[in-house]
Amino acid sequence: ILREWLTVMQRFYHYVEWRPMDQPTSYAGEFGPKHWPNSRYEYVMKLKQAALNFARKRWADYILYADTDNILTNAETLNLMIAENKSVIAPMLDSPGAYSNFWCGITPQGYYRRTAEYFPTRYRHRHGCYPVPMVHSTLLLDLRKEGMKKLAFYPPHEDYSWPYDDIIVFAFSCRAAEVQMYVCNKERYGYLNVPGKPHFTLEDDRLNFVHVHLESLSKKPSIRLLSDKSLVCLQIYLINLRRRPDRRDRMLYSLNELEVDVKVVDAIDGNALNSSDIKFLGVDLLPGYYDPFSGRTLTKGEVGCFLSHYYIWKEVRELALIFEDDVRFEANFKRRVLRLMEEVEQVELDWDLIYLGRKQVNPGKEVAVENVRNLVVADYSYWTLSYAISQQGAQKLLNAEPLSKMLPVDEFLPIMYDKHPNEDYKSHFPNRNLQAFSTRPLLVQPCQYAGDPEWVSDTETSTLWDDDSVRTDWRGSHKTLKGAAPPPEMLSASYRDEL
Ligand SMILES: *[C@@H]1O[C@H](CO)[C@@H](O)[C@H](O)[C@H]1NC(C)=O
Ligand SMILES: *[C@@H]1O[C@H](CO)[C@@H](O)[C@H](O)[C@H]1NC(C)=O
Repeated sequence: ILREWLTVMQRFYHYVEWRPMDQPTSYAGEFGPKHWPNSRYEYVMKLKQAALNFARKRWADYILYADTDNILTNAETLNLMIAENKSVIAPMLDSPGAYSNFWCGITPQGYYRRTAEYFPTRYRHRHGCYPVPMVHSTLLLDLRKEGMKKLAFYPPHEDYSWPYDDIIVFAFSCRAAEVQMYVCNKERYGYLNVPGKPHFTLEDDRLNFVHVHLESLSKKPSIRLLSDKSLVCLQIYLINLRRRPDRRDRMLYSLNELEVDVKVVDAIDGNALNSSDIKFLGVDLLPGYYDPFSGRTLTKGEVGCFLSHYYIWKEVRELALIFEDDVRFEANFKRRVLRLMEEVEQVELDWDLIYLGRKQVNPGKEVAVENVRNLVVADYSYWTLSYAISQQGAQKLLNAEPLSKMLPVDEFLPIMYDKHPNEDYKSHFPNRNLQAFSTRPLLVQPCQYAGDPEWVSDTETSTLWDDDSVRTDWRGSHKTLKGAAPPPEMLSASYRDEL
C-alpha cells in the first residue's frame, strides 16, 4: 500500500526515507497470528522509537504518527493540529461505535478507565482540544517543546510497571516527562477500524465512493429472489427516517456488502405529524395505554414508527424482511437467514413472524422449534429491529385494526402472539393467533452502545402523541436500555433475577 501510495505522492514531499523491511513472520512466545506477546509489542515500540530517533537526528520540528488502519480524510488535519500549538496532540478519529484513539481516564495500573467525559467528547457534544491521559494511533509531536527530549517508546521508562504495550508505554513516558497529551474533536479528521468482532458497519467516508451506486440500489424494485435454491418471493425493507441519511447510508452500505437488495421506506416522521394529521389517519390511542418505563403514554415518534411498519405490512405479498436503520449484522447474516428459511420450509412450519433482532424479556423460557436449528417460539419481547413476516402474518396484523387502538409497535406484536403480560391491552385484540418465532442467537443487534447518549435522547425527547407544543423523536421504544426498571408485576421471576 505504501509503495503504491509513494509512486503518486512522493513528489509532494521534500524528502522520503523508504526503509522496506520484512516484518517478522512470527514473534517469540506467540500462540498464533492474533496473539500479541511482549516480543511483538516490543517490535512495534522499536519501530516507533526508530522513527523518533530519525526525526530528532534530522532536527525535525514535528513528527506525525499514523497507524496503517487510520484513514485521515480531512486534508487539513496536519495544519489544524499544528495550529493548536501543543506538545502531543491527536485528531479524534471516528469509528462506527464508541471506539476512538484516546482515553479520558487511566487506572493506577495503566488500563482504560471509564469516565463521564468520554461519550460527550467522542460524540462531539462538546468541541475542543482537551487534555487527556492517552492518545494513540494518530498523533502529532512538536519536538521543539519542553520535555520532548525525554519521551520514548523504547525502552520503557525505568519506573515502568504498567502493561507492556506501546501506547501505554508512551502515555507513561509523557506523564513522567510532564508533557500533557491532548485530543482534538473540533472537526472530523478521519476514521479508524474497530477491533474485535467483525461486523458490517463501515466508515462513512468509504460511502462516498459508492454513493452513486447506492442511490441506484435504493431505487431498484423491492422484489428479488433470495437465492437460486429458494422459490419464495422476498421483499426487503429498510425503514429509515429521511432526516437520518447517515443511518440510511450505513445500512445500505452494509446490506450492499451482504448482497442484499433492499427497498428504502421513508419512515413516517413523528416530528412532521401534528395532532390533526394523526387524527386524520384514524389513529387513536389504546385506552389506558401507559408506558411503565417512562410513565407516559404514546409519543408521536411511536405513532410514526407504528405507521411505518403498518404501511409495509400492507405491501407484503409473500414474505418480507424488515429492518430498522440502527442495526448491525451478525457474522454470516445472509447465509444464516437463507438456511433458516430453507429449514422452515422443509418442516412446513406454520409461521407468521420471525424476529431476527429484538430485546428478549424472559431469557431461558423459550421453547426450541424441532428440526429447525436456532429457532425458538417467541415469548414477550421488545423492539422491532428486524423481523421476517409472511403475507398471512401481515394480514393478521392488519385485521386487528391497530391504528384505532394504537400502542407502540413492539408492544403490539407480543399482544398479537398472545404473550403480552397485560390482560387489559390484550382484551382489545380478540384474535391473538400470530405464530411468532425468534432466531436464537439473534442475527442482528442494535448498533448503538448501551450508555450511548442517543439511547437516552430517543426516549427523553419524546413527547405525547397529541401534544404539538414539544418536539419528538422517531421512536421511544428502546426502553430497557434507558436503565429505568419496569414495575415488578410486569416481569417474570427469571427476568427480575436478571435485573
Ligand atoms: C505556542 O506555545 C508556546 C508554549 O509552548 C508559547 O510560548 C508560544 O507563544 C505559543 N505560540 C503561539 C503562536 O501561540
Ligand atoms: C397540521 O399539518 C397540516 C400539514 O401537514 C396542516 O395542513 C394543518 O393545518 C396542521 N394542523 C394544525 C392543527 O397545526
